[in-house]
Amino acid sequence: MFLIWVFQLVGLNSGFGLNSGLNQSLTYIWPLPCEHTSGNETLTVNPALSLSIIGHGGSFRILREGFRRYKRIIFKFSSGISVSKNSRRIRSLYDISALRIIVKSGSDELNKTEGKSVVWETIIEASTIYGALRGLETFSQLCAFDYTTKSVQISRAPWYIKDKPRFAYRGLLLDTDAFPLEVPAYPKLWNGAYSKWERYTVEDASRIVSFSYYLAWCTAGIHVMAEVDVPGHAESWGTGYPDLWPNATCREPLDVTKNFTFDLISGILSEIREIFPFELFHLGGDEVNTDLWDSFVLTDCWNKTRHVKQWLDDNKMKPKDAYRYFVLKAQEIAISKNWTPVNWEETFNAFAKSLNPRTVVHNWLGPGVCPKAVAKGFKCIFSNQNVWYLDHLDVSWDEVYYAEPLEGIGNKSKQELVIGGEVCMWGETVDTSNVQQTIWPRAAAAAERLWSTEEALSADNITVLQRLQYFRCLLNRRGVQAAPVTNYYARNPPSGSGSCYWQ
Ligand SMILES: *[C@@H]1O[C@H](CO)[C@@H](O)[C@H](O)[C@H]1NC(C)=O
Ligand SMILES: *[C@@H]1O[C@H](CO)[C@@H](O)[C@H](O)[C@H]1NC(C)=O
Ligand SMILES: *[C@@H]1O[C@H](CO)[C@@H](O)[C@H](O)[C@H]1NC(C)=O
Ligand SMILES: *[C@@H]1O[C@H](CO)[C@@H](O)[C@H](O)[C@H]1NC(C)=O
Ligand SMILES: *[C@@H]1O[C@H](CO)[C@@H](O)[C@H](O)[C@H]1NC(C)=O
Ligand SMILES: *[C@@H]1O[C@H](CO)[C@@H](O)[C@H](O)[C@H]1NC(C)=O
Ligand SMILES: *[C@@H]1O[C@H](CO)[C@@H](O)[C@H](O)[C@H]1NC(C)=O
Ligand SMILES: *[C@@H]1O[C@H](CO)[C@@H](O)[C@H](O)[C@H]1NC(C)=O
Repeated sequence: MFLIWVFQLVGLNSGFGLNSGLNQSLTYIWPLPCEHTSGNETLTVNPALSLSIIGHGGSFRILREGFRRYKRIIFKFSSGISVSKNSRRIRSLYDISALRIIVKSGSDELNKTEGKSVVWETIIEASTIYGALRGLETFSQLCAFDYTTKSVQISRAPWYIKDKPRFAYRGLLLDTDAFPLEVPAYPKLWNGAYSKWERYTVEDASRIVSFSYYLAWCTAGIHVMAEVDVPGHAESWGTGYPDLWPNATCREPLDVTKNFTFDLISGILSEIREIFPFELFHLGGDEVNTDLWDSFVLTDCWNKTRHVKQWLDDNKMKPKDAYRYFVLKAQEIAISKNWTPVNWEETFNAFAKSLNPRTVVHNWLGPGVCPKAVAKGFKCIFSNQNVWYLDHLDVSWDEVYYAEPLEGIGNKSKQELVIGGEVCMWGETVDTSNVQQTIWPRAAAAAERLWSTEEALSADNITVLQRLQYFRCLLNRRGVQAAPVTNYYARNPPSGSGSCYWQ
């Protein structure tokens, strides 16, 4: 949770702000804050903006890094440095020269600073350093470069903004499309890479482990959750370890009969536990159940391979039972390494009663799964593929925007079990050359749905569209290659020359 104040007693310049073609009565902050009020002053911001942090708890290094990052963004178009050596004189040229951050770690309760001297200052008050980081993002969006005065300005000041996210879990899934990771205990695991040039080395991994890289995630306030998808999507492992395949011609799902299969999963999870400190770990488990997908009659392989069939019979299992056995065993391994397992909804659909009660059910096949999962007491992540799968290129921004994770769940205490949602960028329709255009701006539409309260969201889609178009251009200015908003197909080029704001 955070609060922002931008206050000033006397405005030096009056009232022109955003591009005159834009509807100036809209609030161009993405995602929309819970509460905000604004005025009609325009303030200038000193490129030598200083930061002071008060409070305790957490690493202020993260905040300072974040501040530096946002300063680069805010002052990208201005010189960034005050020319004069006389800093007193320079300060007096700007309305805002200092940003104060107050961190009240450990408490969600935020207070207004009562009538203190907040003149000439911007204050962000937050419960945690991460709340303060989100406050910095909002602050950065208030700032815009003005081409006439060649300075960064905040229009519609004074601002008062009070904000917190609606859902705790707001995710973007990025599919690597293979599992070519070097795992020293199993050196042949990455033999299944598409080519010898498309792999992740231990050094790549340790860059993620290393403090500086980890800090990059921290300074952005982002958790990284890994997924090791078993037993249905691990065929490539068998290239190096053919024993993992039921047989040489039938390669998925992994051989359920062998201890080696589970030893290897345990080995992989042990090694990557160091890399991913986040409490959640994704175990996949999708596209195995024979009931759901004709094209994925995968357990057929188990049923048709002689030694597996023998094992099934010995253990009085049908392929379906072996699927459950496999997923539950993998869950035990993840839990033993102090992870909370996340599994795709097929596991819930097939054997909800046996799933570990801590399981977070990850919806994807369609609507209506989270209501069922939370009714049984499971936590749930909403990713209905019809609206939140970004590889579905024909899903338009408004279909993404108007998807509601709590649809069908009336009970407040059940609603709390929906921890949030995730847009999924699967590898089928992207590579490095177009992944950003495919993710953005549609991921932003889901982001506002997950962040802003329903009351704050505008029901009228014209307003939302104008705000999203503005935000898309902001992403472009920041170097993110977000595609035009209104294309029927994601990532299409603009329909012609013209303003960024109308595409
Ligand atoms: C600007 O937005 C306001 C608030 O949504 C709306 O009432 C008004 O009609 C809009 N004006 C134009 C020109 O679109
Ligand atoms: C600015 O806002 C104040 C109070 O809301 C109002 O009285 C004043 O007329 C406004 N000034 C302009 C230039 O819009
Ligand atoms: C908020 O203000 C109240 C009353 O002034 C005070 O008791 C409380 O400790 C304050 N909370 C925080 C987090 O500062
Ligand atoms: C496989 O593991 C089970 C249980 O840990 C053990 O009882 C069994 O002996 C192992 N089998 C082999 C072939 O090592
Ligand atoms: C497994 O194979 C047997 C024949 O060997 C067949 O009767 C049964 O329907 C198969 N089960 C599944 C789930 O495919
Ligand atoms: C391997 O799988 C294929 C296809 O399911 C099956 O026809 C074949 O009999 C299996 N081989 C063995 C040795 O079980
Ligand atoms: C909502 O769910 C809670 C917890 O499961 C339950 O105790 C309560 O009775 C439910 N309320 C309604 C109105 O169904
Ligand atoms: C806005 O909503 C209306 C009515 O729900 C719909 O007909 C229209 O296509 C929507 N426009 C956009 C740009 O999404």
